[in-house]
Formats: sequence, C-alpha cells, structure tokens
Amino acid sequence: MDLSTTIANVRFPTCLMNASGALCVTRDELESLGRSRSGAIVTKSMTPAFRQGNPEPRYYSFSGGSINSMGLPNLGYPAYAAIIPTLRRFGKPIIASVAGLSPPDFLEAARAVTAVLPDLIEVNLSCPNIPGKPQIGYDVEASRALLLQLKDIITVPMGVKLPPYFDPVHHKATARMLQDVGVDFLSLINSVGNGLVVDPDRERVVIKPKGGFGGLGGPMIKPVALANVRAFWKLFDGRMPIIGTGGVVSGTDAFEHILCGASAVQIGTALVDEGAEVFQRLEKELGELLQRKGYASLSACRGTLQEL
Ligand code: DHB
Repeated sequence: MDLSTTIANVRFPTCLMNASGALCVTRDELESLGRSRSGAIVTKSMTPAFRQGNPEPRYYSFSGGSINSMGLPNLGYPAYAAIIPTLRRFGKPIIASVAGLSPPDFLEAARAVTAVLPDLIEVNLSCPNIPGKPQIGYDVEASRALLLQLKDIITVPMGVKLPPYFDPVHHKATARMLQDVGVDFLSLINSVGNGLVVDPDRERVVIKPKGGFGGLGGPMIKPVALANVRAFWKLFDGRMPIIGTGGVVSGTDAFEHILCGASAVQIGTALVDEGAEVFQRLEKELGELLQRKGYASLSACRGTLQEL
C-alpha cells in the first residue's frame, strides 16, 4: 500500500512521522529518525540558546497516556542549523519546529533555521510548560501578529502547531486568523496543557515541574485531537493540509485521523514508549487496514468521515 503523502508540495515517503518533542532533541535521535521508517524528521522545538529544560522527573507514561513538562530542552538553533543539512542524506523531508519564550526569540530562530532550508517549518504556538508563559495559540491576535512577522522571514512552507481548542468559537476565530495570515499547513494538536496525574498509592504528583501540572498526550487525548482535525478540516473546506497528532498508538488510530481529514499523522507518546520501531508497526497496521477496507490510497479516505 502506498502511504506516501504530499503537504504544501513536499512529498513524504509515508504519512507517519514523529511528533516534535518525541526523541528528536539530539543529533543521535534525529539520525535515528532518519534511519527509521518515519516519513519525515521533525526536530524538537528550538529556541535561540541551548536549554536544559525543567527539573526531572518531567515525563511520565501510564496506561492512559503520558504527562510531560519538559520545559523546552533543546540544543539551541545554531546547533540545529548545523545538523539539518547533514540530515538530507536520509532522503526524507525535514520539518524544523521553531519556538521561543518571546516573539523576538521566534523571529531569531526562524531567521537562522530558514537559512539552512528545512523542507517545512512548524511554528509552535502551543508549548504549555514554561512557567509564567501562556500558550500563544490561545491568544488569536498575539498569534496573528507573530505569524505575520514570521511570514516575512520564512521562505519555506510555514505551518503552525496549535493547542487543542474546546469550543467552536475558538476554532472559527483561529481558522479565520490563519486564513488571513496565509499559513501552508496545520499540525494539531499539541498536548492538552496543564493536566494533573495523581499517584494514589504514594499520594503525590508524578512529575516535578509546576507542582505536577503538565501536557497530556497519548490515548486519552485522541478524541480531542480528532475533534480539532475535523473542525479545522471543515472550516478550510478540506483545502488546508493537516498533520494529525494525538493518541496514535495503532494503525486504526492513524486511520481515524485520516478519516477526519489528516494528510499525515505524527506519533509522540507511542514513539517514546516503543522507540523508532513504532513506525514500522504502524505502517504495517495502517497498510493492512486500508487494504482490508478496499482503499487504493490514502487520499481515497481522507476527510470522508460519515455523520449521522
Ligand atoms: C514542550 C512541550 C510542548 O508541548 C511543546 O509544544 C514544546 C515544548 C516542552 O515542555 O519541552
């Protein structure tokens, strides 16, 4: 089964790839993604300078999913600008994720990384884990102002990584802003911010930063992710490429994202749990599922979710 896909005129050998943040911080991790069956290499969100991130423990995985408060540990953009050209040898698209603690940080990182021409840039508007810094994606006008500036800097296709929205009014206002700005693709959703996981035996939280609050991922967020993919797919009349992220641990989960309108699917929690072999397993499961259902291609079922 051909699982290749195209987003903003960039061809991906398969539609399954890592989610930014999952095993993509160091050169070794990025090269391991290059050698894996991941359809792209997505970098950790980069900031101008190296960051150690938040104190550990800062990631916890359990049956329902995961909670993290990593605090943007990353090598800093000069390191990624040096690494990215060396990743070309793997022959798959490179998506640079850009973040910052302030708008000038974003512009600086975007300027530096644009210079080495990743295939696409994902602007992360939705990091929930920096104490005292709200997620920009929850402020439509702040997002608009930042994206308009970034658009003048970024010369490759520019997408946005959005936080989950829980009300149609917010989907609509965000979609209108993104339409005005003219972004090339959407990645959604980022983790569900500021959840709290409790260990009842020890009667305490499971991660150290922010009193245990952190971004939720994995199976428990899949319905929220699917709703956001579907909502934005409809608001853009199926004409905006969407990378679906959230709760994909099986080929069936990936298929559900595609039915809702995703052109590609990113893997976070399951990648951290299983390692890069997860892509091979998911590719097999998704391929077999599409074949069993008689679909000749991904595009034959993209967005075709039926309503009652
Ligand atoms: C981190 C978490 C995120 O969800 C994100 O989008 C960026 C950074 C982090 O804590 O490192």
